[in-house]
Amino acid sequence: MKIRKAVIVAAGMGTRMLPASKVIPKELLPIIDTPAIQIAVEEAVRSGVSEIVMVLAPGRTLALDHFHPAAELEHLLESRGKREVLESVRHTSRLARFIQVEQKEPLGLGHALLQARDAIGDEPFGVFYPDDIVDAEKPLLAQIIDAAQALDAPVLSLMRVARSELSKYGIVEAAKTGERTYHLTGMVEKPAPEKAPSELAIIGRHVLTPDIFEILSHTQPGAGGEIQLTDAILELARKRRVYGYEFEGVRYDLGDRLGFVTAQIGYGLKRADIGDGLRAFLKTIIPH
Ligand code: G1P
Repeated sequence: MKIRKAVIVAAGMGTRMLPASKVIPKELLPIIDTPAIQIAVEEAVRSGVSEIVMVLAPGRTLALDHFHPAAELEHLLESRGKREVLESVRHTSRLARFIQVEQKEPLGLGHALLQARDAIGDEPFGVFYPDDIVDAEKPLLAQIIDAAQALDAPVLSLMRVARSELSKYGIVEAAKTGERTYHLTGMVEKPAPEKAPSELAIIGRHVLTPDIFEILSHTQPGAGGEIQLTDAILELARKRRVYGYEFEGVRYDLGDRLGFVTAQIGYGLKRADIGDGLRAFLKTIIPH
C-alpha cells in the first residue's frame, strides 16, 4: 500500500475561533510563526506524501495561497541579504503539489472529503483534519501509514480522552489486536458520555481506501445535522476490516481557544530561539 496523496479538509468556518477567523481562515492562524496549515503539509511531506488535495470553502483560498511563490517578497528579502528568512519563504512554495477542490456548502466533514473523490482517484490516501496538530518524533501520518501498510487496511488515529470530553469526538468500539492497534467494530460521532462505547477518540489523521467515496455519496446527515465521516467509516468497517492506531505524541486542538494557547506554549518551550525566554516568563507568573 503506497500513500502518495493526502486530503486536507480546510473548509470549516472556524466558529470556535471567532472573531480571529472572520477574515483569516483558522488554518492560517499560526503556532508561533508557522500557520497550522503549513505544519500539516510539512507532516504530510515528512510522511512521504507528494500531492496534497485541499478542500476549501468558496472564496476562502488563503490557506492555499500561502504555498504560492511570493516573487516580490523574495526579491526584497534577497536584495536585503536576509538569506534565512528568504529560505523559509521559498520552502513553503516547494513543499508539495497542490490540488484545490471546493466544498460549495458546509454540509459536514464527510461531505467535504467526498469533494476530493476525483482528485484522489482509485488509490489509498491520507486524511488530515488540520485542527488536530500532534507533536511527535515520528510524524503522526507516518505512524498511521506504517500501521496501514502492516495491516493492509484502512487505519484511523486514536487517542484516549477523559470521560467528560467524550461528547466532543467520534468514539470507537474496539478490540485490541496489538500493542497500539485495535480492530474497530463500531463508532459513534459525539456520543453522550454514558452511551460512548469506549474512551478512545478518533483524531484527525487516517489512511482510507477509495471505497469510502461510494459510501460517502449516500451517507445521510447524522450528529449535528452534518454528513459525518465517522458514519461513513462505520459502514466501511462493516464491509472490510478497519483498524485504529493509538499514536505516540502530544495532540493539540487548534480549533479550540484553550488548545490554541497550549499549542503556543508547548511548541514555544521547545524552540531554540524563544524556549528559554518563555520558560523564564512562565516561572514569573506561575511561581510554584
Ligand atoms: C471531528 C470529527 C470527530 C473527531 C474530531 C477530532 O470533529 O467529526 O470524529 O473525533 O474531529 O478532532 P470536530 O472537531 O470537527 O467537531
